[in-house]
Amino acid sequence: MDVAVTTSRRSTPENIRRATRYARALHAPYIPRAGRSLAQVMESAAHTLHRRVIGVLVVTEENLSVWTPQSGSLYYHPGMALNRVAALRRGGSDPMVEAMQLRPGDHVLDCTAGLASDAVVCAHVVGSTGRVLALESVAVLALLLKNGLARYCCDNPALNIAMRRVRVRHIDHKKFLASCPPASFDIVYFDPMFSEPVATSHGIAPLRPLANYDSLTTETLDLASSVARRFVVVKDRKDGPLHTTLEWDDIRGGRRSRIVYLLRNARKEVSP
Ligand SMILES: C[S@@+](CC[C@H](N)C(=O)[O-])C[C@H]1O[C@@H](n2cnc3c(N)ncnc32)[C@H](O)[C@@H]1O
Repeated sequence: MDVAVTTSRRSTPENIRRATRYARALHAPYIPRAGRSLAQVMESAAHTLHRRVIGVLVVTEENLSVWTPQSGSLYYHPGMALNRVAALRRGGSDPMVEAMQLRPGDHVLDCTAGLASDAVVCAHVVGSTGRVLALESVAVLALLLKNGLARYCCDNPALNIAMRRVRVRHIDHKKFLASCPPASFDIVYFDPMFSEPVATSHGIAPLRPLANYDSLTTETLDLASSVARRFVVVKDRKDGPLHTTLEWDDIRGGRRSRIVYLLRNARKEVSP
C-alpha cells in the first residue's frame, strides 16, 4: 500500500529533514509541498511511482497525520482508552479486561494495533512489571502510532504512563506468531477490522481506508494458541461472522453491548 510523504504548507528545514527520513523508512516518495493541496501531492506521487497512492503522511513541527481523500486527516489519539482507564482507576470494570482476566505483570501480545486504545488499557492494567507489544502490518499506521504513543500528553498521568509502556512493531501478525517460542505471552489478542463498522467506533473511522482487512484464519488462531500461556482473545460483533466460522472454547461479554470476546484456551505442547 503506497503513501507519499510531505510537510505542512509552512515547512521548516527541520520538518523537511524529518519528512525525508520518514519517507526513506517507509520506502515512499518525499514530495515537497510547494503550496499544493494534499490531493495534488498525492497525484504527483502517483505520477512519480506509476502506481495508485492511498494517502499522504503529513509532517508538521508538533505532529504527524495521514490524509486520505475518503476520510481526511488521521491523527494519533488514545480514543476510548481515556474513559476506560479513568473508569478502571475509579474501581470500575472493563469488558475486555474481564474477558482476558488480565492482571498486573501479564505479558500481552496485541496482534492488531490500530490506534492501540485496547493496548493502552492493557498497559495500564499490567503495570510496570507487565509488558504489551502491539503489532501493525500497515507501515504508515505503525509509524503514526509509535510517534503518537511517545508524544501524546493529556491531563491523566496514568494514561500518559500507559501510552509510553506500549511497544509497537511494524510486522504482519502471522509472520510474528510463527517466529515466537511456545507460551511466550500470557494473552494473545486480536481485534480485526469489521467490514461493517460498529456504530460506536467513530474514533477509528479515518483509519478505515488505510487498514489491513485480512480475515482471521484457523491457521493463525492455532499459531496464536501455542504462543499464548492462558488465552487467545478475539473481539467480534455479537452478530459478527467469527462466532460461526471458527471454533471457540468460550464467549464472554455481549449482555448489554454489541461486542463479544471469543476465547480459545492456550494449546499446551504435549511432550512425546
Ligand atoms: C480494528 S483495528 C484495531 C483497533 C485497536 N484494537 C484499537 O484499540 O485501536 C485493526 C488493526 O489491525 C491491523 N491489522 C489487520 N491485520 C493485521 C495483521 N495481519 N498483522 C498486523 N496488523 C493487522 C489493521 O491494519 C488495523 O490497523
